[in-house]
Order: sequence, then structure tokens, then C-alpha cells
Amino acid sequence: MTTTTTAWAIPAALATGTIATAVPGLLLRPVRWPEEAALVADLNNAARIACGSLAVLTVESFRAYYDNLVNCDLAADLRIAEAAGRSVGYGRVQWRDEHRGDRTFDTAIFRTPEAPAGSFAALLDWALARHRVNAISVPSDGRRAVVVAQAYGDDPEAVAALRDRGFTAVRFGYEMLRPTLDEIPDRPLPDGVEVRPVESGHLRAIFEAEVEAFRGHWGAGPDDGSDAHWREFLAEPLNRQTDLWQVAWSGDQIVGMVRPFVNAEENTRLGVRRGWCENISTREAWRGRGIASALICRALRALRERGMTEAALGVDAQNETGALRLYEAMGFRAVFTETEWRRPLDPDATPGSGTPVGGTGEVGR
Ligand SMILES: CC(C)(COP(=O)(O)OP(=O)(O)OC[C@H]1O[C@@H](n2cnc3c(N)ncnc32)[C@H](O)[C@@H]1OP(=O)(O)O)[C@@H](O)C(=O)NCCC(=O)NCCS
Repeated sequence: MTTTTTAWAIPAALATGTIATAVPGLLLRPVRWPEEAALVADLNNAARIACGSLAVLTVESFRAYYDNLVNCDLAADLRIAEAAGRSVGYGRVQWRDEHRGDRTFDTAIFRTPEAPAGSFAALLDWALARHRVNAISVPSDGRRAVVVAQAYGDDPEAVAALRDRGFTAVRFGYEMLRPTLDEIPDRPLPDGVEVRPVESGHLRAIFEAEVEAFRGHWGAGPDDGSDAHWREFLAEPLNRQTDLWQVAWSGDQIVGMVRPFVNAEENTRLGVRRGWCENISTREAWRGRGIASALICRALRALRERGMTEAALGVDAQNETGALRLYEAMGFRAVFTETEWRRPLDPDATPGSGTPVGGTGEVGR
């Protein structure tokens, strides 16, 4: 790999302070965490929902996620965008290693409809500068450094800013909706496989079975099984509706799972009765026997019994294990697209180097 040394100075404000931008009146200021958790959640929801996303993230989910981040120092790696004294968005950066070999420098940018034109580009430029600081603070371990960012729905300003800076669209994620919970097919589990009620003593095994099943998934990396991720798993309030979970066992082995949840805050805010049919996985040796199909049917029925009238999920549209086809067969249709963009961190590096992260269908934060 060729390493190019770029001569550039780190502006003093980049690490600790408020930063002026090229957009008149737009400032990027540090966050007060956790005091401003509700603000960050509001900005994220306002930005995504304006682009057509279905999901409402709660403050408690943000706390669970941000309090257990890996390779992200919120004091330096998050900036709130302010214009005319109002918060209009934020940017956050983080780096991760992938099983596929690269080090990705992940960029989350959210801006509300009130953000002035040019805000996405201003946040992206801050993020790129911040990524460079982070990249030189850790040994590369021979990994290629790839910057990853998302555009939500149809967002011409984001697309133009990403293209101008040399990014390429590489991957798509969908939010999918099953608009009714009528006509749920009846799919049996294979002989010898059964769903058992979840007990608290099962949680670690459920976590580990999921991490293993997702090992080959787009964007998966060694920190998926980390203590921080386990703490987040336990802290996430939507992970507590274990009476809805469909966990399939063969003997003392977990072979697959679907972990549905109902987000009451989302349903109240949007006036819907929607359940999420999420965290769908079958361990590799058990795939292609109808386990996920059977568990999804059971999950949809459990949500219907809870009074829900529709179901949603997120998916990497290019999932190599056929998830998109499976969900379409189960009656889900794509209603919202997230596009994953990438470029080498060092634009002088070999074009096209690195594989991108993301398109996971996960809701960005
Ligand atoms: C995607 C995933 C959950 C599917 O699990 P699975 O248990 O293999 O799913 P199913 O067996 O129900 O269905 C898969 C296929 O097997 C077929 N199948 C169903 N019953 C079958 C049977 N008895 N014998 C053979 N094939 C069968 C299904 O028709 C389906 O066919 P398709 O590929 O044409 O759609 C699994 O591959 C996985 O865990 N992948 C990694 C994690 C992941 O990506 N999760 C999705 C995140 S959004």
C-alpha cells in the first residue's frame, strides 16, 4: 500500500471548541453529553423523518448507543450545527475495523429542514478533517482507510456534496413495511427445532449467537462482540420486550432468532400501530431450512396479538444471504432508501481501494 503524507495543519478549534464554517452564520459547537441527549435524538429524528424514514429513535436508545460507543470521543467527535441560535443538525465521526479487512471512518450527518443550504457540506468537511486527526492517532495495522457516509432518501444537497468530495455510492439499505398483519402464512419449524420462552439466563447466548450469525454481514467487525456492544445490548430499552422474541433452539443450541419490538413513542408520535420485526438471523449451519421464515411468521403474529396493524424492518438491499428476497416473500415492501457512499480517506491513495461499510439497514445515529 502506498502511504501519502499530506501536509496540513490541525486547526486548534477542531479538537475542543466551536468552529465557524463556510456557510454564513453556521457554527459547529461541541455537545454537552448526556445533558443534550434529547436534542441529539430530536435532530436525528427530524432529519430522517423529513427524508421519509419510518423510525423514531428514543432518547433512551440514544443513551444506550452513545454511552457505549467504541472509538468515538463525543467531546471531540460530535459537533452540533447551529444557525441563528437554533440547532439544525449534527455530525459525528467514529472508526471501526471490519472483518472484511478495512478500517472504516464512519460519518453520521443529520440536518433538519431548517438547516441553511450548504450545511451538509460544512459538516462533511468538519468530519473529513476530524477523521484525519483520528487516523493519525492510531496505527493503521496495515488496513486501508475508507471514509463512509450516508445519504437518506432523495437528498440532492447531500449527494452533490459527497460527489464533489470524491465519494461513490456503493450500497443501499431499505426500510421495509408490511402494511397489514393480515394473511400471515403458517410456516412450520423443522423437526427438532422449537421456540422457547426467553429467560434472563439466555441473554448472553442470544447475543453471542447473533454476533456469530452476522459475522459475514456487510460492515460486521470485531467490536460487534465487544463488552461495549454487550453493554449496549443490555441497556437498549427496546431489547427488553423479550416476551415478543422468537428464539429457536435445537437441544442446547440457539439456531435462529427474530427479536420484534414495539416502539410506543414512535406509534404515538406518528399515529400508527407498528411493530418492528428486527434482528433476524439463522446460524450458518441451519440456513435454508425455513427457520427464519417460520420465526418471522411467529413474530408477525405476536405483534398482531399485541394490537399492531403493520410491521417494519431494515435490510441491506444487497444482503448476500438472500434477506431481501425472504422479506419480500413475507409481504414486506421497500419504502425508504439509505445510500452508502465511500472514498479513500486519503484521496491520493489508489482509487477504489477499500470495501465500504454499511447499508446495513440499521438506523444511523
Ligand atoms: C437471512 C437469513 C436470516 C435467512 O435465514 P434462513 O433460516 O436460512 O431462511 P429460510 O430458510 O427461512 O429462507 C431462506 C431460503 O430458504 C428457502 N427454504 C425455506 N424452507 C426450506 C426448506 N425446508 N428447505 C430448503 N430451503 C428452504 C426459502 O424459500 C428461502 O429461499 P430463497 O433463498 O429463495 O428466498 C440467514 O441467511 C442469516 O442469518 N443471514 C445472516 C444474518 C443476516 O443477514 N440477517 C438479515 C439481516 S436484515
